[in-house]
Amino acid sequence: MGLVTITRESLVDGRPLSEERARAWCAQLEAGDILYFPETPIAIPNDDLAFLLGQQQTDSSLHKNIAYKPIIDKLSGVDTKTADAAAVSRLQSIMRKYSQTVVKFLTEFLSPYHANWKLDYASFRPQEEQGRDLSLRRRNDLLHTDAFPTRPTHGARILRFFNNIHPTRTRDWVVGDPFAKMVHEFAPKEIAPEPDSAGSRAMKSLGRAVGLGAAIPSLKRSPYDDFMMRFHNFLKENPRFQSESPKYPWNFPAGSSWMVYTDTVPHAVLAGQYALEQTFLVSPEALVAPETSPLKVLEGIAGAPLV
Ligand code: SIN
Ligand code: FE
Repeated sequence: MGLVTITRESLVDGRPLSEERARAWCAQLEAGDILYFPETPIAIPNDDLAFLLGQQQTDSSLHKNIAYKPIIDKLSGVDTKTADAAAVSRLQSIMRKYSQTVVKFLTEFLSPYHANWKLDYASFRPQEEQGRDLSLRRRNDLLHTDAFPTRPTHGARILRFFNNIHPTRTRDWVVGDPFAKMVHEFAPKEIAPEPDSAGSRAMKSLGRAVGLGAAIPSLKRSPYDDFMMRFHNFLKENPRFQSESPKYPWNFPAGSSWMVYTDTVPHAVLAGQYALEQTFLVSPEALVAPETSPLKVLEGIAGAPLV
């Protein structure tokens, strides 16, 4: 688990990226590494940056961030009390361009994935992260793995690409040990599944074992999604995990980018302001090391299929 630095020179020397090199990047991501670009490979025009840096949401607890949905070309989370129509449409066009530029870059850089990813939301994060007043489960300064309450992935992985667009300040993260280690360390032994357990029963025992109470899988979510959501909540609500688990600080400089599987690498943002982000849902069949995926790790524990 660590940070893999990818310099600008290594990207712009004119060689097309080999399939083998791209598979190696995918393998590093799947192993829990952060791929870090000291100078972002994503071109954002200066006037777009200036516009973004001029934005500040008024009510910090109302929306965690501004989301852009590339598939339907829609913005959400915009403060309509203060934003005028021209500004909203400008923001939308900036987000559209950002999303397209990231997709174009990763289509080649992570070529083994692009036929099998689902483009999820992009986001603009204009608020200061330090000292935000959010409810416990929405806090991002507590170490957690990501899961979406309203968008179950059914085993697809959550891959996120970030840009720190603050002109001078770092975006300060801490990350923890990867998923498999954490699940085994913080979820006690009773996790062993019953021999005949169907997925949902296995998940109930998994849920009980980590002290979450009985998991009741909702209709929309698979047992896998249920566990991932409960695990997100469990980590944020668990003072022992927050204080005792290993933490590695990474401060991402102004103008840098990084990407990471946030469904398995525990992360928290402690300080920083102004970031852009694009999320991808990578299907299990695209993974270069599917046996290490959280789905396989959990199915190994449960002894039953979970999607
Ligand atoms: C998160 O996914 O927890 C937030 C990360 C960030 O905004 O830097
Ligand atoms: Fe997160």
